[in-house]
Amino acid sequence: MRQVKGKYQKWASILALLLMVAVTGFIVVGCSGGATEKKGGESGGRSLTPQEQAQEGRVKDEANPAVLFTNNCGPCHGGDGSGIVGPSIRGTSLTVEQIQKQIENGATKDGNVAMPAFKGGELSDNQIKTIANYVKNNLK
Ligand code: HEC
Repeated sequence: MRQVKGKYQKWASILALLLMVAVTGFIVVGCSGGATEKKGGESGGRSLTPQEQAQEGRVKDEANPAVLFTNNCGPCHGGDGSGIVGPSIRGTSLTVEQIQKQIENGATKDGNVAMPAFKGGELSDNQIKTIANYVKNNLK
């Protein structure tokens, strides 16, 4: 009986040791993970390199048509183009060229800007073309 108990105690201490190592490892990994996040976070005061952004999974891909549309047109036309303050442009009968012109020139209504002109603004000509194609081909 004594022997059995001794054996059990030995195993118990080995197990406890293993557990301690595991817990310590977990804490170390957890802490360094937190530190990395803090360093790379937006509050860091330093803009992230593209590599860091990609790693953090929040690349603001300015060549991505869906992202361009959501950011620039979504507030008025809805992320899916079904319209908010701007009309629905899903399944529009306009051609890609007409959509492009609309984005470039915007629209006025009763002398007020109903839709801003994007040409010469934050969007490049290429981005405008990308969005026009996206509207025509993806928002059906
Ligand atoms: C500030 C709100 C606003 C934003 C931002 C905006 N639009 Fe508009 N858009 C409008 C309004 C309002 C109209 C309707 C104008 C009118 O009555 O002639 C319109 C009209 C249009 C039309 C013509 C619809 C039709 O059937 O005649 C298209 C196409 C269009 N927008 C695409 C876009 C795209 C693409 C973007 C992003 C690059 C965008 N709009 C950004 C408000 C906006």
